[in-house]
Amino acid sequence: MSAERDVAALSAAEAEAELARLAAEIAAHDRAYYEQDAPVVSDADYDALRRRNAAIEARFPDLVRPDSPSRRVGAPAAGGFAKRRHLAPMLSLDNVFEPAEFTKFCSSVRRFLGLGEAAPLAFVGEPKIDGLSISLTYEHGRLVAGATRGDGLEGEDVTANLRTLAAVPQRLHGDAPALIEIRGEVFMAKADFLALNAAQAAAGEKIFANPRNAAAGSLRQLDPAVTAARPLSLFAYAMGETSAAVAATHGAFLDRLRGWGFAVNPLSRPLAGEAEAVAFQQEMAGRRAGLAYDIDGVVYKIDDLALQRRLGFAGRAPRWATAWKFPAEQAESVIEAIRIQVGRTGALTPVAILAPVNVGGVLVRHATLHNEDEIARKDVRIGDTVVLQRAGDVIPQIVAVVADKRPAGTAAFAFPDHCPVCGSLALRPPGEVVRRCTGGLTCPAQAVERLIHFVSRAAFDIEGLGEKTIAEFHADGLIRGPADIFRLPAHEAAIAAREGWGEVSARNLSQAIAARRRIPLARLIYALGIRRVGEATARLLARHYGSFPAWRAAMLEARVIGSEAREALGSISGIGPAIAEELAEFFAEPRNLATLDELAGLLEIEDAPPAAAGNALAGQTVVFTGQLRAMTRQEAKARAEALGAKVTDSVSRKTDLVVLGEDAGSKARRAAELGVRTISEAEWQALAEP
Ligand code: IVH
Repeated sequence: MSAERDVAALSAAEAEAELARLAAEIAAHDRAYYEQDAPVVSDADYDALRRRNAAIEARFPDLVRPDSPSRRVGAPAAGGFAKRRHLAPMLSLDNVFEPAEFTKFCSSVRRFLGLGEAAPLAFVGEPKIDGLSISLTYEHGRLVAGATRGDGLEGEDVTANLRTLAAVPQRLHGDAPALIEIRGEVFMAKADFLALNAAQAAAGEKIFANPRNAAAGSLRQLDPAVTAARPLSLFAYAMGETSAAVAATHGAFLDRLRGWGFAVNPLSRPLAGEAEAVAFQQEMAGRRAGLAYDIDGVVYKIDDLALQRRLGFAGRAPRWATAWKFPAEQAESVIEAIRIQVGRTGALTPVAILAPVNVGGVLVRHATLHNEDEIARKDVRIGDTVVLQRAGDVIPQIVAVVADKRPAGTAAFAFPDHCPVCGSLALRPPGEVVRRCTGGLTCPAQAVERLIHFVSRAAFDIEGLGEKTIAEFHADGLIRGPADIFRLPAHEAAIAAREGWGEVSARNLSQAIAARRRIPLARLIYALGIRRVGEATARLLARHYGSFPAWRAAMLEARVIGSEAREALGSISGIGPAIAEELAEFFAEPRNLATLDELAGLLEIEDAPPAAAGNALAGQTVVFTGQLRAMTRQEAKARAEALGAKVTDSVSRKTDLVVLGEDAGSKARRAAELGVRTISEAEWQALAEP
């Protein structure tokens, strides 16, 4: 290849000519590779062409050709990135910290699979890189899209930025499925991070707190040329959707990744059993400080992909993997103040305001003090020096007070018995640890926190409506309740005139709100902020009731203790009486119902699709009873749910199907009485076959 001129030195006319040449040249290479099976350049040279194309386009965005090799689905939305839905969700991992917890993980895997207590489990151990996870979609071996994890279902489309990374193959070498999503971690090496921060400081630019933030900040750049200039690396470690099986074990899959041109962490290793995993953990802890990049633990994955499939997922994490984190990092700091925060349910939570301190690469300014008993138990006082720790992703905790550093004249902390925001009485019901403001919706703190929850990422996810804006709009009477959010576009001119706004941002906000008028039922339920109703519960409810009118009607009936609707609600697997009570309480409050109906009038609420429509179990309510032989009860339940069924524990008129294991007793009789269909375990297996 001829010597390349610096992209920064190109004139527009030169850039245009070179983009035309690159488009033709890359297309010719693609034809040679895909149609004639006779590539004429090395993969490295091919990738270099694509990167050059991306770099020139980044500098001359107006010159991007319709036939450019970089053309991709979904252009960035004004002021941000387009969203991109992952074909298969991007999951997170459950954590363990101690050998005993790892043993528990192994036991739960064996129990789920119905294996003996001593059955060996083969794992692959991989250092857990502290970066940000991304998903790369390849069609016919060609990179077509790249996205951040986002909420796990939908991320940001950062294709153009990812294309600038040398570690991201534009084209997979050798055979690849027609479609495959490859997942991995983008990270910045420690030395690169230090050099970047030095350069940023010299230029008077933003300093990053740690390599993870630097990697995330570098990838989420609206200008791909900035990303291109940052030293980002990638290790690939997982797959999402694939059109064809690519390996039988995770170890073999890692080999395929290497073959396709990805970097796979060279420290990844097959481990024959639990003892080898424990030894690997120790070895990695010892090598951690000497590695070129940050790791915060080791990920252990069951090697056999068929077992992985059987194990499936629980909530947002796979049952077949766990992250064994290294012990928490600790540091000392001084408590400057104790602030009381009021949450959306009125809970008063004490937070320690600390002299800023670096704990394991993160600048910490606050730590939770949990509740008043916890403050009393540790006797935490303003002015105290305390030991802090960060464990996993959780907020920093205060481990202990350093007694001999306590200054003279401190006093025990007196927890307030009134809400610091609205002044209402704050009560602590007998037997509970949490003190709550009794101000309800009249308390601005509660109202604001509920609104913040309402627009949060897993709820309505309204871009441009952050915590600060909500608090300001609430203070000025622009938003009193959630329904007012959807009336904001009518006030666009007034918003544009506000300080710090302007026509463009006001219009963007109106558009972001309009885009969320259509909302899946599960998100709406979650957004309401009902106590104990988190994302997973909201999804369960949406799937169980199917539509908003059906859910609303059932909840109104369920207000009556002992009603059939209340019993049915409490017997949904994963709900239970405590959550049923919270829902009933929420619906018993007329203001809540009024708010909900106001919202329903403004929104288009999507019905919840049965998880896997088109199979015999989708939408069915199933009960398992008796002893199952071929799979454990847990696996059967998980399988049924994965197929879109609802699993409940008791047989009622609403039950569609009862699966009878051996020695089925009263539930089998009840099914016969009610005329509910029953099937044997063998028939169930035929139905549930993947
Ligand atoms: S596997 C279902 N492997 O850890 C599989 N994750 O705590 C999910 N991570 O979001 C991911 N190194 O960002 C996997 N070798 C590795 C990893 C890894 C780092 C991150 C990843 C994930 C997070 C979960």
